[in-house]
Amino acid sequence: MTEELGPGTGPLLPDWLPPEIDQTKAHPARMYDYMLGGKNHFEVDREAAEVVMRATPAARAMVTENRAFLGRAVRHLAEAGITQFLDIGTGLPGVGNTGEVARAVQPEARVAYVDYDPIVAVHSRALLSGDETRTAVVLADVREPKKILGHPQVLELLDFDQPVAVLMVALLHFVGHDEDAAGIVAAFRDALAPGSALVISHGTDGGQPEVSAAARKGWDNAKSNLVVRERAAIEAFFGDFDLIEPGVVQLPRWRPDGPVREDWETIWLEGGLAFKR
Ligand SMILES: C[S@@+](CC[C@H](N)C(=O)[O-])C[C@H]1O[C@@H](n2cnc3c(N)ncnc32)[C@H](O)[C@@H]1O
Repeated sequence: MTEELGPGTGPLLPDWLPPEIDQTKAHPARMYDYMLGGKNHFEVDREAAEVVMRATPAARAMVTENRAFLGRAVRHLAEAGITQFLDIGTGLPGVGNTGEVARAVQPEARVAYVDYDPIVAVHSRALLSGDETRTAVVLADVREPKKILGHPQVLELLDFDQPVAVLMVALLHFVGHDEDAAGIVAAFRDALAPGSALVISHGTDGGQPEVSAAARKGWDNAKSNLVVRERAAIEAFFGDFDLIEPGVVQLPRWRPDGPVREDWETIWLEGGLAFKR
C-alpha cells in the first residue's frame, strides 16, 4: 500500500514501489524515520518503533541526539579540511544530511552514501540526482567492505590516496555479536590514507540491561536485530586511530555546541571521532 508512505513523499517515490522494498519486516531506516517524525515508513516499521518507544521513552530523544552528533562530527571534519566522505548506513536523507552539513563549510565536498536498504537508495537518488559530480548513492552492505571499497561509483567519486572520512553513525549496532564487526571496521581503517577519519556512534544498554533488552525487542522482526556494546568495545573499533577529545562518550556530551541536556544519561548511544596518523 503506497499510501502508507503518507503525504509529502509523492515527488520522491513513484506511485508504485520497487518489488525489492519489503513491507513484511521492519527496516531500521524506516523505524528511525518514524521516530524522527518523518513520513517514510510502513505499518510494520511503526509497530516495531512503538515497541522501542514504549520500553524506553527516551528513544525519540536518542534518535534526535544521534542526528545532532552526526552534524557536529561532519562540521568538525569539514572545518579540519576533509572534503571526502563515505557515509555508510546513511538512512533516509533529511535535513542536516552529511552533504548539506559538509558543504556549508566545504562547498566542493564529495559524499558517497552507502546503505543496504533499497528505499534509502530510491529516496537518495531522487533527492540527489543532478549532483553526480559531488554525490554517489550505492546500495551495499557494510559487512562486505571489499564491495564498498572497490565499488566503481565509490572509486569514481572518492580518491583513497587523499583523506576520506568514513561515517558509521548508528550503524554498527546492526552488526551482530556473531559477526566480525571488528574485522569489518578494520578493513575500512586499513583502506584509508593518513589524515583520514572515522566517526562512530553506537547503542549501549545504558546500564539498564533489562530495559534495553525490552526495547531491542522492537528489532526482533526487523531486517537486522539491534545489539548493544560497551564503551570499551566501541573504542576498540577505532583501532590505532587518534580519538579527539573527549574520546568516546554519550552523544550529548560529545563536543556540544550548546548547553548539554540535563537528562544526557538517558541517551544510550556513545560515539567519537578519530583521525589516522
Ligand atoms: C539508525 S539509521 C542511521 C542513519 C544515519 N547514519 C544517522 O545516523 O542519522 C541506520 C542505517 O543503517 C543502515 N544499515 C543497517 N545495517 C546495514 C548494513 N549491514 N549495511 C549497510 N547499511 C546498513 C540502515 O538501513 C539505516 O539506514
